[in-house]
Amino acid sequence: MQTYRISVLGIKGGVGKSTVSLLLSVELASHGYKVLLIDRDITGTLSRILGIKSKGLLSKISSMENEINETYKKIQVGTGSITIFKFGGDNIETEKATKIIIENKDLREKFIQAYKQVLLSDNFNCVIIDNQPLIGFDTEIAKTEREVYESVFKDDVKYRIYITTFPKEILQKSLDYLIEVEGVSRYKGISNPLAFIINKVKEDEVNEAKEFLEYALNYVNDKIKAVHKTLSLGIIIKFDSRLFLKQEMRLSELPSLYEIKKLADRVCKIDLSREIISGDKS
Ligand SMILES: Nc1ncnc2c1ncn2[C@@H]1O[C@H](COP(=O)(O)OP(=O)(O)OP(=O)(O)O)[C@@H](O)[C@H]1O
Ligand SMILES: [Mg+2]
Repeated sequence: MQTYRISVLGIKGGVGKSTVSLLLSVELASHGYKVLLIDRDITGTLSRILGIKSKGLLSKISSMENEINETYKKIQVGTGSITIFKFGGDNIETEKATKIIIENKDLREKFIQAYKQVLLSDNFNCVIIDNQPLIGFDTEIAKTEREVYESVFKDDVKYRIYITTFPKEILQKSLDYLIEVEGVSRYKGISNPLAFIINKVKEDEVNEAKEFLEYALNYVNDKIKAVHKTLSLGIIIKFDSRLFLKQEMRLSELPSLYEIKKLADRVCKIDLSREIISGDKS
């Protein structure tokens, strides 16, 4: 079965990576997908919200603890499910743990087996990865993670979602980050940037955001056609107080956004037609 791997990326904290990762997970799960939501942010935001009390996998392995099943938890959503998995999420501990695992052959092997256990804990058809800002793709742990992932999901489609907010300089920096990442991520199979999202847009910024997205699609496509990729979707998400994440919350409390539905539609259809979506239609 086809698997979709969706990495959520951005250059800054607080722009909405975790929020969009969660909303998209809920949307896909409610359509029957079995979503594995990997919390790869060192702050562990989503793990905390969704009730994982344990350390993340990296800290568990580095401190020789064996209860791997405490690092993930399945939540039924509609006809599908979200399995939240705490990969890092222990702040500074995570960095130390990563170093220990990479330098120790036995621990590295333990990590590989444990991560496989998580990936095989259900028949996942969608894996969404919430990242910390400016996550590195060429670090040893990122490479190891991808190798293990690819040994389990051999036939997958990879997407990356880029999220930013105003001001304009950050929008432009985020586009340049997208171009840089797309240039280095030469995966086998289908691999594309799925969307560029401007989040937390205020009412009086909507027009400027639309203009920027028109420009962004041209600017990006001109640069990434050399690596045979296309960015076709620009999304504006307005500032919306319903999206304040609480320490612990029920998934049913989250609003269902038109923009996220459109994003979810694109995941399985591999539709590359050009579109700019703003909340106006909701
Ligand atoms: N469109 C929005 N309107 C209002 N608040 C929002 C919106 N999107 C996200 N937020 C809120 O902004 C805060 C930061 O969002 P989030 O945690 O998703 O950012 P992040 O990019 O994951 O940050 P970090 O890199 O620190 O993990 C959260 O409280 C979230 O609920
Ligand atoms: Mg986050």
